[in-house]
Amino acid sequence: MSSRSFLEYRAMFALDDRDLDGVSLDCAGGASGFVAEAGAMGVRALAADPLYAHGAAVLAERLSGDLEQGNAMISANADRFVWGWYGSAERRREMRLRARSAFVADIHRRPGAYLAARLPHLPLADGSVDLVLCSHLLFTWADRLDQEWHRAAIMEMSRVSRREVRIFPLVRMGDGEPVPFLDALRADLRAEGLRCAVREVPYEFQRGARHMLTVAKRH
Ligand SMILES: C[S@@+](CC[C@H](N)C(=O)[O-])C[C@H]1O[C@@H](n2cnc3c(N)ncnc32)[C@H](O)[C@@H]1O
Repeated sequence: MSSRSFLEYRAMFALDDRDLDGVSLDCAGGASGFVAEAGAMGVRALAADPLYAHGAAVLAERLSGDLEQGNAMISANADRFVWGWYGSAERRREMRLRARSAFVADIHRRPGAYLAARLPHLPLADGSVDLVLCSHLLFTWADRLDQEWHRAAIMEMSRVSRREVRIFPLVRMGDGEPVPFLDALRADLRAEGLRCAVREVPYEFQRGARHMLTVAKRH
């Protein structure tokens, strides 16, 4: 369970103020600094993640181990990461710690903003949010989650979104390589009446991971 900040989401998903006008869903949210910091700024956002079923106290306990585990994985694979966006490992760590604290405080204060849910099913009505943001679940874990699971997960996120689904990154965590089934998946989604595009974003941490997938209904 990682914790990314509002600033990281802004860059990873190339978000501008218009994108954030309306309700955004962070799916899978993890320790969503994005939702917590958005809430403090008056930007409307919700998160969904199966781990929220454990409750705020258990999650807060679990989080420090997860941050250290992520840092150890990055150190062991240093050649696969670039630091231009963060500036330094220390700045990244500070950003993550701030995001984590904001999440822990916010899930205690506003538990209703954090929905226990597991893709490919979301407990939300059709078109109940404007934008869905999906960071570091789809594609990231494509060695465990196959093309059919990705199709079903994207269909479900599109069902609940009025405007668009944005997914970042498009490479696998294990080896940093592009997902081999991306083109076939895009063809599946087109056949379901969805419009997909790959867009460059102003963020890079995994070397070469500078693109998001956008998915919207064809009108
Ligand atoms: C690497 S974390 C990313 C969290 C956050 N989006 C971020 O960028 O920091 C992956 C998250 O996906 C959640 N997850 C795993 N399987 C899921 C599923 N089927 N549906 C929704 N979330 C899932 C995990 O609980 C975990 O919090």
